[in-house]
Amino acid sequence: MNNKLKVGVFGAFRGKTMINVLAKHPGAQLVAVCDKHRPLLDKVEKSAEEIGITVAVYEDFEDFFKHDMDAVILANYANEHATYAVRLLHSGRHVLSEVLPCETMAQAVELIEAVEKSGKVYAYAENYCYMTNTFEMWRRYDNGEIGEVNYAEGEYIHDCSSIWPRITYGERGHWRNLMNSTFYCTHSIGPILTITGRRPVQVTGFETQQNSQMLALGALAGGCAGIEIITLDNGAIAKSIHGGLKREPSSVNYEVYGTKGMMESERFDENKLNVYVEGDKLCEGERQNFTPEKFISPELAKNFSGHGGSDFYSIHFFIEKILGTEEGKKYSIDVYTAVDMGICGILAYRSILNGNAPIKVPNLRNIEERDAYRHDNACTNPTVAGEQLLPAYHTGNPEISDEAYERVRQLWLDDKKAE
Ligand SMILES: NC(=O)c1ccc[n+]([C@@H]2O[C@H](COP(=O)([O-])OP(=O)(O)OC[C@H]3O[C@@H](n4cnc5c(N)ncnc54)[C@H](O)[C@@H]3O)[C@@H](O)[C@H]2O)c1
Repeated sequence: MNNKLKVGVFGAFRGKTMINVLAKHPGAQLVAVCDKHRPLLDKVEKSAEEIGITVAVYEDFEDFFKHDMDAVILANYANEHATYAVRLLHSGRHVLSEVLPCETMAQAVELIEAVEKSGKVYAYAENYCYMTNTFEMWRRYDNGEIGEVNYAEGEYIHDCSSIWPRITYGERGHWRNLMNSTFYCTHSIGPILTITGRRPVQVTGFETQQNSQMLALGALAGGCAGIEIITLDNGAIAKSIHGGLKREPSSVNYEVYGTKGMMESERFDENKLNVYVEGDKLCEGERQNFTPEKFISPELAKNFSGHGGSDFYSIHFFIEKILGTEEGKKYSIDVYTAVDMGICGILAYRSILNGNAPIKVPNLRNIEERDAYRHDNACTNPTVAGEQLLPAYHTGNPEISDEAYERVRQLWLDDKKAE
């Protein structure tokens, strides 16, 4: 009997990575894919045929929703995950959500309560927590090798200007054009929280200057970088930075200082780690520089290379958590940690709009802390924010002409990069 989990994928662009992992995973079976962009579905059908599996494809979410599925992976627009997750959880499906978890504080509360009420598994696919460097740091921190965190840094620098046509299609309302500097924050904050197991209690936000190239491509925030300075619940301080600063290749770097030592990824060879562990004498210890090995299901994991193998682990631990294994329970990122990661960015932007004033990060595990946010829809997306609409940059939204978006759209249609 085939008792594999029946999994659907919503959003087939980033979703193709999920589709590839599911096609080879022993615990799950890809049964349906939904995307309104037909050419992506044609590709899914073609690859399903090549590997000899049957996958139903849907352009319309309502049709997809009715398909017989135990679980759904959300790889749709980054600012719409919570709304779909809530609906799917209430319909009895487990949900794995791509980044980000929510667009507003109200959605954060609604998402948590949907998980609690439904009793279904919600997992957050913050794959940067499972990179070669961050996953090994998580393992070593857990072993107590560097003691308790004092200071940490997470950095995700990715200049997407040349690929902007391919990832926004010249749509004025695309989430990448609407987002503010601190929205896309969980690649840099996420690993700090999973490695240390700490919770954020306060955040202060900053943003850099806008750049004219990104304004010309239609990004309302002008491609500025976002910075969050976070106080953790043990008093440690973490710095997270992300955005499109000039650096090639992109940067996925982390460092953690603890009471007994420190760990850091090597800046231009991120697969390598430096670890310092202090011995019995002050200021004397052992230093290591090495490339970590995969320590969970290495045989299975080596079949998948997406984002340094990390794409595999988000899905693997989701499936394992549904199956009830200890590994799944330990490493799958739950809704509370997901929301902690995401709301640091939402609240950091408020800090920026308030002259970089520190903002308390609520602990939404506590029911009594939720009411203050139930109607808090403030964000940069007009369809969600209503009267609480925020500008995408602290000095206000720039005027961007229809011609600018049309030029980007044409580049996309011609399959060209921006120059
Ligand atoms: N974790 C990572 O490393 C990583 C990398 C890239 C993208 N992502 C995430 O993946 C998600 C998707 O990003 P993307 O790069 O594929 O671009 P995207 O957000 O433009 O693509 C979303 C896809 O979903 C489809 N879609 C959205 N709403 C739909 C609806 N109502 N009905 C049918 N189809 C719909 C779109 O047609 C599109 O193909 C985002 O959440 C993004 O943050 C994560």
